[in-house]
Amino acid sequence: MSTEPEISSTRPRPDTRALLKIAEASLIHHAGPIDPLIIERSAGTKIWDRDGKEYLDFTSGQLCATFGHNPEELRVAIADSFDRTVHSSSYWLSEEVIRLAERLLSLLPPELSKITFLSTGSEATEVGLKAAKMATGRWESIGVSRSYHGHTAGAAGVTFLPRRHGTGPAAPGVHALPAPYCFRCPLATTQPDCDFACIDVGMAMVDAQRTGEVAACIIEPILSTGGMIELPDGYLTQLRVLCDERGIRLILDEAQTGLGRTGDMFAFEAADIVPDVVALSKTMGGGFPLAAVAMTDAIAQVAERNGLRFLTSHMNEPSMAMIGLAMLDLAEHHLQQQSAARQGHKLRDSLNELANCHETIGDVRGRGLLLGIEFVTDRHTLEPAPEVAAAIAAACRRRGLLLQVVSGNVWRFAPPMTEHDHELDRAVAIIDESLTEYQKAQS
Ligand SMILES: Cc1ncc(COP(=O)(O)O)c(C=O)c1O
Repeated sequence: MSTEPEISSTRPRPDTRALLKIAEASLIHHAGPIDPLIIERSAGTKIWDRDGKEYLDFTSGQLCATFGHNPEELRVAIADSFDRTVHSSSYWLSEEVIRLAERLLSLLPPELSKITFLSTGSEATEVGLKAAKMATGRWESIGVSRSYHGHTAGAAGVTFLPRRHGTGPAAPGVHALPAPYCFRCPLATTQPDCDFACIDVGMAMVDAQRTGEVAACIIEPILSTGGMIELPDGYLTQLRVLCDERGIRLILDEAQTGLGRTGDMFAFEAADIVPDVVALSKTMGGGFPLAAVAMTDAIAQVAERNGLRFLTSHMNEPSMAMIGLAMLDLAEHHLQQQSAARQGHKLRDSLNELANCHETIGDVRGRGLLLGIEFVTDRHTLEPAPEVAAAIAAACRRRGLLLQVVSGNVWRFAPPMTEHDHELDRAVAIIDESLTEYQKAQS
C-alpha cells in the first residue's frame, strides 16, 4: 500500500462561499458578524483574497504589519530561530531576549530601565497595572473614556468602550477620566483656553469616588479604537502633574503608536514627560505575537520585593525576540528615513483637500501614519454619520482599498510605513471617487 501523502494541489479547492458557510457554522462571532473577506496571501502593502482580488491595506492588518506584510527581514528572523530555538521555558533565557531588552531600553528614557516580553497588548496592560499596584501597595486605577487596552479582565476594566458590557461589573476601584475629545468637548470648552478642564474635573471625580489610593493611570497617546482622538498638546504634562500630586504611576499604552508610527520612536516623546511604565505590542511584532512592558527600576524593584509574579507560556520567547530585533532594525531605518512623518504629512494634506470638497468629512486628525477622519451629517450640528462612514468604507473596499471604521463614524488610516507615494495617491483617489459616488446617489 502506498504511503505517499495526498498532494494538496490535486484536492478540489472549496469555493469561497462554501468556506464561508463552514465559518458561519463553526466559528464564534468574536467581533460581530463574520467578515466575508478570506485572505489568500499578503505582501508589503497589499493583500489578495482567495478570488484573486487585490487590496491596498490601509489598516496594516490589525495595526501590526508596521513595515508591510511578510517582510523578508522577519522571514529571515523566523528561519534563524528554527536553526537555534523557537521556544523556551518561561524560566529560561536566550541571548536574543537579553539583546532585545538591552536594545529596547537604550531607545527609551534612562528612567525606564526594566523590561519583560510577552505576547499580546492585553498582557502588557495586565503586567503594567499589576506592577504599579504591587509597587505602590494600592489597588485602584484610572483609564480614560473611549480608551482601549485589551480584553483580558484587568485590561477590560480600564477600557471604556461599549465592549465593556455584558459580563457584569468590572473590577472595583476603576475610574474614568473624560476623553479629551476636543472635536466634541465633553465640557463644551475649547482648546487651549480650557486649560485641560477635563483632567481637573475628571481627577476631582476620581478623588470623590475612590475608596483607597489610586495606583495607576493608563492612557493611549492617541485614543485610537475610541475614535482617533489625539491628546492635545500639553495634555500629558498636565496629567503627569496631577498624577504626581497623588503618587499615581502613569502608564503609556503604545500598542498602536510604538516603533515610529507617529513619527517618533515612541509617541510620548512628543510630550515633555517620561511615563513610569510603557506598554508595547502590535506594532512591535510585525504580525507576530510580541509585546513588552518597560518600567522604572523603582517600580520593578518594589513590585518584585512585594512578590510580583507574572508568567505565560510564551514570555521571553527566543523566536519572538529575534523578530523584535529585526523589527527594531526596520524601525530605526524608517525613523531615519522619516517614513511615517513624510507619508503622514502627505496623506493628511490629501485628506484635508478631500475635506474641502466633501462636507461629510467633519474633522481630519491624528499624527504621523495614524490618522483619522470623522464623518458628520452636517458641519454645524456635527451630528455623527456612522452610516456614511460604513457605506463609503464599503465602496472603497469594492474599489480595492481596506480601511477600518472605529467607534461608528470615524475611519482609521494606519497603512504600513513602507507605503509608496503612488499607493497613497491611489488610496486618496479611491476615497474621493467613493465619496463623490455616495453624494451623487444621495442627491
Ligand atoms: C492601545 C491598545 N492597547 C492594548 C490592546 C490589546 O492588544 P491585544 O489585542 O494584542 O491584546 C490594543 C489592541 O487593539 C490596543 O489598541
